[in-house]
Amino acid sequence: MKTAELECGSIYYHDFGQGEPILLVHGFPLDHTQWKHQLETLSKSFRVIAPDLAGFGGSVRLKPLETLKIFADELIELLDELNLPKVHFCGLSMGGYIGWQFWKHYASRLSSLIACNTRAAADSETVARARRVTAHNVRHEGLDKFANDMVSKLFAPEHLKQMASQVEEVRQVILNTNVETVAQSLEAMAIRPDATSWLSAIENPMLFIAGSEDGVTPAKEMKDNAALPPNARYVEIDGAGHLSPLENPAEFNEAVLAFLTEL
Ligand code: MLT
Repeated sequence: MKTAELECGSIYYHDFGQGEPILLVHGFPLDHTQWKHQLETLSKSFRVIAPDLAGFGGSVRLKPLETLKIFADELIELLDELNLPKVHFCGLSMGGYIGWQFWKHYASRLSSLIACNTRAAADSETVARARRVTAHNVRHEGLDKFANDMVSKLFAPEHLKQMASQVEEVRQVILNTNVETVAQSLEAMAIRPDATSWLSAIENPMLFIAGSEDGVTPAKEMKDNAALPPNARYVEIDGAGHLSPLENPAEFNEAVLAFLTEL
């Protein structure tokens, strides 16, 4: 792991392998360890960059997070530091929301876009309000209850018991996240724009990866989104919940490698 001292903060990141760069952007409220089953496999053919977003994992955030575009700006800061003009962008859930922002503002830096367990639609009023309540609660009560609630949603119901040690690892990652970053990310997600109408304009090769048991981002919604961009394909990962790279890494890696090597 390396650390880059940037204007946005101190960014802790994995950077390994040779070849075309692929940027792995984790979901909320996780860190690069979400990709632990991808790092070695993908780095046999690609240069794999997997940062902890500022404020998550081992990275330190120096500036407030007002919108999700700020994450995209910060990733560009990191890519500039690494002299990488273009990347394959692979984002999961909130990482996917950041992917839409990356395409919108930095399309020339994008080779292809992989959207995992994510949606293009904005939050409904009810969901946005619930996020603000959660942001308030974590600021006042800490992360214990929040971490338990989150893990029960992230994994497929069957995996909560079968993958108990993995579930516990994710719970610990959440508990170790900076509270203010959790609250600000919730508030930023609540005001993110609806990207559905952008999809038909994304000309880059795209891969949508859904989990057949994902209760946070249902596979059906992802399949409908995948029908909109002109160069997109759709893969559904068997038995996976919201964390398909962790829950079924073999199928996930096969889908990513098949997509990237055919480009
Ligand atoms: C994530 O995994 O990044 C979150 O579930 C995204 C969200 O809360 O919308």
